[in-house]
Amino acid sequence: MKNLISITDLTREDIYKLVELAEDIIAHPKDYQEICHGKKLATLFFEPSTRTRLSFEAAMLELGGSVLGFSEAASSSAAKGESVSDTIRTVGCYADIIAMRHPKEGAPVAAAVKSTVPLINAGDGGHFHPTQTLTDLLTIYREKGRFRDLTIGLCGDLKFGRTVHSLIEAMMRYENVNFVLIAPEELRLPDYMKEKMKQANASFRETRRLEDVIADLDILYMTRVQRERFFNEEDYIRLKDTYILDAEKMRLAREDLAVLHPLPRVNEIAVEVDDDPRAAYFRQVKNGKYIRMALLLTMLGLSKEVRA
Ligand code: NCD
Repeated sequence: MKNLISITDLTREDIYKLVELAEDIIAHPKDYQEICHGKKLATLFFEPSTRTRLSFEAAMLELGGSVLGFSEAASSSAAKGESVSDTIRTVGCYADIIAMRHPKEGAPVAAAVKSTVPLINAGDGGHFHPTQTLTDLLTIYREKGRFRDLTIGLCGDLKFGRTVHSLIEAMMRYENVNFVLIAPEELRLPDYMKEKMKQANASFRETRRLEDVIADLDILYMTRVQRERFFNEEDYIRLKDTYILDAEKMRLAREDLAVLHPLPRVNEIAVEVDDDPRAAYFRQVKNGKYIRMALLLTMLGLSKEVRA
């Protein structure tokens, strides 16, 4: 795999190998601490981020490599009008691999055409976010021990939430996965995603009320209403607190529910839920670093060098 633009660039076998490698890194971190010595990762973030950028950087540092990059478009030559293609060609002269986040859907595809080094999409507008999905998949695997036979509720902003789109694309390839799409009318999953689900014969239903379905779920994937993608602030204000997962709602859920959230959270999960053992979202943050370590090793062709 030269580039990772969409989660569907990876087969189920590729994903399984990445998950296995991440598990090995978690079990034997010392064996991996020098393996990327001399390698450089560039993180080019044209949009804000905490976890994605820092977990990529922490991942490379823990592998013994180095990092360079920028965390906002304003501090790069994009502010002078440089094209993404030219930025990518330039950075390819300095780095061995690039992780890029951009507000425009499709920007990573255009960038990858010009890139001389492997490129990873770290989120493109309301489109896709494959490395968050790898994080989500490792979390699902560690929490539930399987990818099949699961009922997964996706709740909140299913329209603009790129992590939701990528997670659906990944999970609909496994047997007997049932999706429950929980959203207000205005933030329902886009038709192009529903078409993909229909074509894959994925089982899904749509509802507005979390309380009505929470008892059926193995996994509840909460999301933030994506303020930056709204056309007007009034709509955001009206919709932002549609769902708030609190202790009372958690009482309706199963004992073995796992609550995931890509974070950042705004109001959609009450802080009181953090102490519930079913809250997996901070464990998910940790998993994000390990799966990115596995991804960097694999894309740099170094995954076979340890524990062969
Ligand atoms: C997500 C993103 O950037 O799409 N965050 C992340 O990468 N962990 C979700 C979000 O911003 O709501």
